[in-house]
Amino acid sequence: MDRYTVFGNPINHSKSPFIHRRFAAQTAQQLHYDTHLAAIDGFAEAVTQFRRDGGCGANVTVPFKQQAVALCDQLSERAKRAGAVNTLHWLEDGQLLGDNTDGAGLVADLQRLGVTLAQQRILILGAGGAVRGVLAPLLAQQPKHIVIANRTATKAVELALAFADMGTISGGGYQQLNGEFDVIINGTSASLSGQVPPLPGIQFSPQCVSYDMAYGTAATAFQKWGRRQGINDNYSGVGMLVHQAAISFNLWRGIEPPTQRVLDALIAESGVVQ
Ligand code: ATR
Repeated sequence: MDRYTVFGNPINHSKSPFIHRRFAAQTAQQLHYDTHLAAIDGFAEAVTQFRRDGGCGANVTVPFKQQAVALCDQLSERAKRAGAVNTLHWLEDGQLLGDNTDGAGLVADLQRLGVTLAQQRILILGAGGAVRGVLAPLLAQQPKHIVIANRTATKAVELALAFADMGTISGGGYQQLNGEFDVIINGTSASLSGQVPPLPGIQFSPQCVSYDMAYGTAATAFQKWGRRQGINDNYSGVGMLVHQAAISFNLWRGIEPPTQRVLDALIAESGVVQ
């Protein structure tokens, strides 16, 4: 049977096996999907071994997404832009293709939720790997502008410069931030420790929505923060998780899996909050 896996460290918490097994069942695809705990200094070796054992494709998660770039013979444009790979796909000629489906997954989830991006003013918090991974697909939706704000302001400035050829994008620190926004996306890891960066100078448009790329079994600190600001729709990143998986699945199998049904099942069975 065709074998797929997700490499990470840690990996126990991964919801990818649940999602991909459901996708396979729903589309009548015969495949095996499991998790693979790679040693922190043993990722390349683990991928080589998996391929030798007959692996067809894999997802890559923390902390290996950047390292995965160097293993690939070919990279999709969005993986090149992201500087990170979350999907490995061995082609028929044996070459390894690296893709990054995170940003497209975020855009697909925002579309599912009815959030418009074209001509909107988008604020993104954070300037690490997670944010770099989603900027190209977001800019491709032609927002009015994207502002990146980060605790370390220089990182936000540099990241914005790296994507300036794709649209109107700027970066800075939290304190300098001002203006009104329609979409606010949290891409910092602060929410995981229950923190929300200070955002003293911003306003929210009446239809403003917030989206946390993180998720949990309760509303994240960022979702709660959004409610306190009077924002009506404050979403977690669980839908992004399912959509990035669906785009990987389609790359491997050439079939679009039913995302809403699998998202509903994931929420029902794991207790994750949308
Ligand atoms: P990831 O791959 O999750 O993006 P990362 O590249 O280490 O991880 O980036 C983490 C992001 O969360 C960064 O933007 C970081 O801000 P700094 O660049 O200033 O370090 C942000 N972050 C982490 N903890 C934070 C906190 N307590 N408050 C504000 N920002 C935080």
